[in-house]
Amino acid sequence: MAQTASSKQVGTATLTLGDKTASLPVLGGTLGTDCVDVRKLQNELGVFTFDPSYGATASCESSITYIDGDEGVLLHRGYPIDQLAENSTFLEVAYLLLNGELPNKAELEKFNSGVMRHTMLHEQIRSFWSGFRRDAHPMAMLCSVVGAMSAFYPDSINVHDERQREISAFRMIAKIPTITAWAHKYNVGQPFVYPKNEYSYAENFLYMFHAVPAEDYKPNPILTAAMDRILILHADHEQNASTSTVRLAGSTGANPFACIAAGIASLWGPAHGGANEAVLKMLAEIGHKDNIPEFIKQVKDKNSGVKLMGFGHRVYKNFDPRAKIMQKTCHEVLGELGIKDEPMLDLAIELEKIALEDDYFVSRKLYPNVDFYSGIILKAMGFPTQMFTPIFALARTVGWISQWKEMMEDPSNRISRPRQIYTGAPTRDYVPLEKRG
Ligand code: SDX
Repeated sequence: MAQTASSKQVGTATLTLGDKTASLPVLGGTLGTDCVDVRKLQNELGVFTFDPSYGATASCESSITYIDGDEGVLLHRGYPIDQLAENSTFLEVAYLLLNGELPNKAELEKFNSGVMRHTMLHEQIRSFWSGFRRDAHPMAMLCSVVGAMSAFYPDSINVHDERQREISAFRMIAKIPTITAWAHKYNVGQPFVYPKNEYSYAENFLYMFHAVPAEDYKPNPILTAAMDRILILHADHEQNASTSTVRLAGSTGANPFACIAAGIASLWGPAHGGANEAVLKMLAEIGHKDNIPEFIKQVKDKNSGVKLMGFGHRVYKNFDPRAKIMQKTCHEVLGELGIKDEPMLDLAIELEKIALEDDYFVSRKLYPNVDFYSGIILKAMGFPTQMFTPIFALARTVGWISQWKEMMEDPSNRISRPRQIYTGAPTRDYVPLEKRG
């Protein structure tokens, strides 16, 4: 386990309300914005803080991931995302996120074989699928099957037992590719393909996804490398909506499978992980470069409800560093597949160019995010649009479980329970039915 420091007091903020003054500690971490610790505010001044979508709130201390949104920097345990994407493998990044340090050779081999020996699902889980409609969205299947895992692996759901937490983490990371691939197989009516442990993590997922019993399957090394990179780029992203959901659910002592199911549900929305699917739908609707100006006009019209999907981010006010790597990977994948002319990619590049020159996007600091190019690569790799968000969930499972473990190991963890500004009716007496007008 990496030695990580807690935040330290770096100053004091003074807040005056009427005739009372509160001295609030200002906390600083290793990098990033300092935070005013408002935990004693209610006792000292009798007020809460109000920050409905948490735009100005740090919800926890974490030593896993750091983002500098102004500079477009993303670090996992201190390592820049571009270095990890270039040199590492997904399971090595998973080890890093979970344990805090890059593994040595022996540690990595042990971790790889530990994950790859837990890839099969309890056979009874198979029967779950027959209860779904064939056209069920794979995110619905993922959410349900992951939630149901707590019923199949009750030996690893004691959240207060360190060993059981570790086993659950392995089970989640190892089995999520099988669940994701099987959701697709069920959609298309093909037989489920069982995992092959001799393959790497990414290779095994591609195999379970694409292989059919009638033919030999030969993994393509370039596509496997691209898959691995896509997984690395989605692995963790500090306290995003789905990770915060996992932490909130976990703060109650709920079992890890239930918490990850909650995270999957949260990721599904188009403002979050569902954006990769929405980007492709948007590009299909725009249809042709000539239609971009009209589309941009709609985006700028607040009443239209139309957003440029794959653009904008709560934290990045600069390029999302993952989007740059994703764009490069996109060209590599299309090159490998011999796709010289991909209208969706041409359209995306033109859309990006026009948006980056338009004052609406420039003044709001809206740049492409991780989802802008990922869909085009996944489409080229043969994934149907509705599988894009499940693949994001597959990768993010590592981040969710690392963040959940970190929270469970933090002795200061207690149930997350925000407050509110109540705007409903003041106290009033019950009126009997016959006296109501
Ligand atoms: C992910 O948080 C994470 O880390 C998430 C993620 C991860 O790895 O976990 O990075 C993954 O979720 C990426 C984001 C995917 N979503 C999309 O691509 C959907 C499109 N983008 C947005 O809806 C939006 O930008 C969000 C949801 C990503 C961020 O929303 P915020 O922080 O609440 O920003 P905002 O809505 O307050 O926007 C500020 C301004 C507003 O205009 P004004 O009211 O100031 O005039 O920018 C406008 C917004 O209307 N705006 C957009 C826009 N995004 C913001 N206008 C048009 N198109 C957009 N995409």
